[in-house]
Amino acid sequence: MTSLVVVSHPSPDSLTHHVAHAVARAIGDAGFADLAAEGFDPRFSEADVNLYQGKGTTPPDVAAEQRRIDRADNLVLVFPMYWWSMPALLKGWIDRVFVSGWAYDYAPGGEFVKKLDRLTVHVVVVAGDDADSFERHRIHEAVRTQIERGIIEYCGARVGSTTYLHESDTKSRETLADEIVELSTTVAERVSARTQLSFS
Ligand SMILES: Cc1cc2nc3c(=O)[nH]c(=O)nc-3n(C[C@H](O)[C@H](O)[C@H](O)COP(=O)(O)O)c2cc1C
Repeated sequence: MTSLVVVSHPSPDSLTHHVAHAVARAIGDAGFADLAAEGFDPRFSEADVNLYQGKGTTPPDVAAEQRRIDRADNLVLVFPMYWWSMPALLKGWIDRVFVSGWAYDYAPGGEFVKKLDRLTVHVVVVAGDDADSFERHRIHEAVRTQIERGIIEYCGARVGSTTYLHESDTKSRETLADEIVELSTTVAERVSARTQLSFS
């Protein structure tokens, strides 16, 4: 069982990176993909449109991302919440990489085929607002709708876990440090539970 932690944040010394590294360490043998440092281009280009329309070939950078996800059983997405959603870099990564032909497809009879059924995806959100505000504005529900159902399950993958580190800009370093230990242990346990399930 292999895991790939994908982090989307421009600063390597950010809290988000700290969380991503803690999760990777807790899992143990996880690969690490730093989309900003690697210079992934999130812009949906004409080549991407052509691919979506069934013309042309997969751009090399997209194919490389797909190959690296193909090698993983667990994908862990770690990102800061921006405008009640994910950062543009991660959204562009999903738009370009989770494409027709690889993430899903249409059988000759027109039937929709989900192609990522071997993959479990874990979501880790670092957010400035508190949990009450998320409940009040139904943001947890929005994440379930947009990310869990709209992306992960749409492609046939399983949701392994979704965890939040709230009040990221205001809690003390000590409190955040404790919560990061708890969060990364939880994600690692869910990864390991999934691993045991698939071996049994
Ligand atoms: C462009 C932008 C939009 C943001 N939008 C939200 C938001 O909608 N909800 C929220 O809880 N926090 C929001 N925040 C706060 C970030 O989630 C918070 O600063 C981040 O999690 C802190 O982690 P970092 O130190 O790794 O950047 C936003 C921050 C930025 C820069």
